[in-house]
Amino acid sequence: MPSSSSPEPGFARDRFVLPRAPDGSDAVYLAGNSLGAQPRAARDALLAAVDDQWARVGVAGWEDCGWWATPRRLGDRVGALVGAAPGQTVVGDSTSVQLFGALVAAGRLRPGRATLLSDAGHFPTDRYLASSVARLTGLRLVTSSPPAMVPDADTAVVAVPAVDFRTGERWDLAAIVERAHAAGAVVVADLSHAVGAMPVALDALGVDLAVGCTYKYLNGGPGAPAFAYVAARHHDALDPPLTGWTGHADPFGMTEAWTPAPGVGRLRVGTPPMLSMLALDGALGVFDDPDAADLADVRAASLALGDAFLAALPAVDVVTPREHDWRGGHVAVRVPDAEGLCAALARRGVVVDARPPDLLRFGFAAPYVTLDDARTAARELSALLG
Ligand SMILES: Cc1ncc(COP(=O)(O)O)c(C=O)c1O
Repeated sequence: MPSSSSPEPGFARDRFVLPRAPDGSDAVYLAGNSLGAQPRAARDALLAAVDDQWARVGVAGWEDCGWWATPRRLGDRVGALVGAAPGQTVVGDSTSVQLFGALVAAGRLRPGRATLLSDAGHFPTDRYLASSVARLTGLRLVTSSPPAMVPDADTAVVAVPAVDFRTGERWDLAAIVERAHAAGAVVVADLSHAVGAMPVALDALGVDLAVGCTYKYLNGGPGAPAFAYVAARHHDALDPPLTGWTGHADPFGMTEAWTPAPGVGRLRVGTPPMLSMLALDGALGVFDDPDAADLADVRAASLALGDAFLAALPAVDVVTPREHDWRGGHVAVRVPDAEGLCAALARRGVVVDARPPDLLRFGFAAPYVTLDDARTAARELSALLG
């Protein structure tokens, strides 16, 4: 729901419990691009699921507590945050598992084509899986940076992230989809570093399939289940490789052969991790409760945090574009001994992460990070760099 005026960064901080700094105070927590901070509502939902549901309802919870329907219900809630109309998104399994299913299913939507075109700088799991999917399906894997991709009549699938996990560069998904579709290819987008950090318009952009983490900017908790999106126009032809029983049209019919559930439900695989799902259920209220800031405001506040950080930063090599249009949710700087600096910052109460060989990433999750936090991080980094 749109808010009446743009909120200040940190606008929902009282809805979170932040990790501790060594002195016992709240840390300056800038690792939300890796694992989001804990929403109080996620903890409440998890405890209620443990004490009131699992303990007291037991197996009947699959129906009586709505557990069975949760992957689709949460799918629609996450879908709404990435511009997907209901019925096209499902939550469950890890991003890696969802990605495997999406890549194979995408290839099967374009039989007879020979190439899987993937981002050369994709997150490792995306690269490793693209390589395995290529070997498994007989597709030829070709890699390049997203802006340099030239899909052609042989391209079956174009696999890209919305935001580069290292540099924090935001790619032009609209242009990528346009080029892919002009060549007749389908697009599989990894939204892990975009969902909850900025508005995404999957339906409007015409993205074909997408996956993403819910433990980063959506704050679903460690190992929170991922989501998968498939545009409705592909549902009838969707042929997933992981034909688990929960993706069956009649799972309790226990029939001999696998019959796909209607629509995106066929991407369900096994029994969903219900406690993690219910923690995510609580966490999502930060974004879709009636009083929640809308994602355009979250994005504006996140960019303001990045600007404050960049303005207060010493002379270091910033690898993230400064232009708002091309910046994701985090800012990365190139430094000598990134691991050592990361540990030294943590000792000073500033939690960030390092990515080899030489990057420090500062995540600006606007619901709980304040402008003071951003400036403190820049000041502490400056002090450490001398
Ligand atoms: C772009 C991207 N994809 C996938 C993953 C991880 O996937 P999984 O949840 O399977 O560990 C990450 C984790 O940081 C990521 O950044």
